[in-house]
Amino acid sequence: MFPIGKVARCSWLGVGIYGRNEEERESAITKINGHKASATADPLLKKRRADGQGDDEPSVKKRCVGEKGEENLSPDERLKKAVSPLWNMPYDKQLESKSEEIGQIMKNFANQIFKNNASLRDWLTEQRKKYDGHCCELQPIKPSPVQTGYRNKCEFTIGQDIDKNDNTVGFRFGQYKDGTSSVGEPHCLSNIPDTMKTVVKSFQDFIRLGPYGAYNPETHAGHWRMLTVRTTRSDEEIEKEKTRLHEYFSSGEGRSSGVTCLYFRVYSDRMTGNTTEPYKHVLGKTNIQETLLNMNFEISPDAFFQVNTAGAEVLYEQIAEWCGATTTTTVLDICCGTGTIGLTLAKRVSSVIGIELCPEAIENAKRNAHINGITNVTYHCCKAEDVITQTMKSITSHDVVAIVDPPRAGLHPQVVRALRNSPFLKKIVFVSCNPKGAMNNFIDLMRQTSKKMRGQPYRPVKAVPVDMFPQTKHCELVILFERDSCT
Ligand SMILES: C[S@@+](CC[C@H](N)C(=O)[O-])C[C@H]1O[C@@H](n2cnc3c(N)ncnc32)[C@H](O)[C@@H]1O
Repeated sequence: MFPIGKVARCSWLGVGIYGRNEEERESAITKINGHKASATADPLLKKRRADGQGDDEPSVKKRCVGEKGEENLSPDERLKKAVSPLWNMPYDKQLESKSEEIGQIMKNFANQIFKNNASLRDWLTEQRKKYDGHCCELQPIKPSPVQTGYRNKCEFTIGQDIDKNDNTVGFRFGQYKDGTSSVGEPHCLSNIPDTMKTVVKSFQDFIRLGPYGAYNPETHAGHWRMLTVRTTRSDEEIEKEKTRLHEYFSSGEGRSSGVTCLYFRVYSDRMTGNTTEPYKHVLGKTNIQETLLNMNFEISPDAFFQVNTAGAEVLYEQIAEWCGATTTTTVLDICCGTGTIGLTLAKRVSSVIGIELCPEAIENAKRNAHINGITNVTYHCCKAEDVITQTMKSITSHDVVAIVDPPRAGLHPQVVRALRNSPFLKKIVFVSCNPKGAMNNFIDLMRQTSKKMRGQPYRPVKAVPVDMFPQTKHCELVILFERDSCT
């Protein structure tokens, strides 16, 4: 069977619920069967108390108006402004605006190099002349192949809408910490797929019919708190046939044959009958599955996975090109999540070492290696800062490339130090979803050699923004750093 078209399919739901006391909590948790609750501090209350405003509810107006000057906007417009602020800007203009922002960040980076490493000043002057004021080549932004309905995962808040309708599932009109608590339904948002909107609406109908109200973070009353929805791209025809199989053997005529477990396999090469596709479980699925660069990935609810799958393919191809790895290379995949970056490279390199904090993601990564027939990967489930020095020491190869893809705040300084201090590491591909947050990392990589930063400084060779988040102000920035002997 051959893929005909791609459709989005809603595959996984996660819900968060709270109870007012142990008994209610227990009963609420029993209702939703197995999803746990935990209490958090309330940032709004803290802010209000710090501002000397006491614990009173803010006015309805304040609760739905995120910022000053938004009074004339309709609720849909406010929601679009809060969640997808570039919604009414043509996509080419969005890319222009992101390119400008990244350009400013790169210029700031150049200024920081000037301040922090006097020995690089002559080099920097030459680079700036060559690259239009930048410290390295800055390539044009790579657009996302899909611009609408691209989000494969969303965390929806459950609260009251502006008319005080309880158990509304959607997004806040503004930042909760700024005092905005009203929630708007996501039907008007162009970056959310329709399949996801349908699930949200069904879930909203479900909880509105039930006995539990939305959790109120100010008073800690109520129960329903958030809904996570994940979708995957999948092949429509294959999915239909799998559904028919499932129905036939679980509730149809096939049921009496006593089949208890059913797998499905796609043969993609009609001529040879070969396949690289794994068996797929049809009955009793446990994890969501996604295809990326012709490989299959299992993702558990807790594990990170890039939210724009088509965009992630563009990003990973760029990483592969820039890390220039060969069959002798050891790839260090730092903050590897479910192993996607390292696994997409594994077949062309000597070995991959993945480091990741989240145990579920590491379990997925190991499983993902297995289902894709990859045996040259090892994983460490730890904070990168706790194991990086030891890991670097244990690598005997002199051909090592590090790929780092940290969360918004960037890498722990200890990780940067280890990357600096390893004499064998010549190249780092740094992927940042928040380049401002990672600026200190960039500077530390370049900083003049010192007692702390013993190894040779790295230099940025090229950079490219990759738009993973159309309709929003965010994009990823990939920077290739190399050491002197390579530049
Ligand atoms: C932006 S995600 C990247 C995941 C992966 N590279 C990908 O492309 O799917 C960042 C990952 O870093 C992990 N992480 C956060 N802090 C970490 C730390 N101190 N050490 C190791 N991993 C960490 C998170 O759990 C998350 O999976």
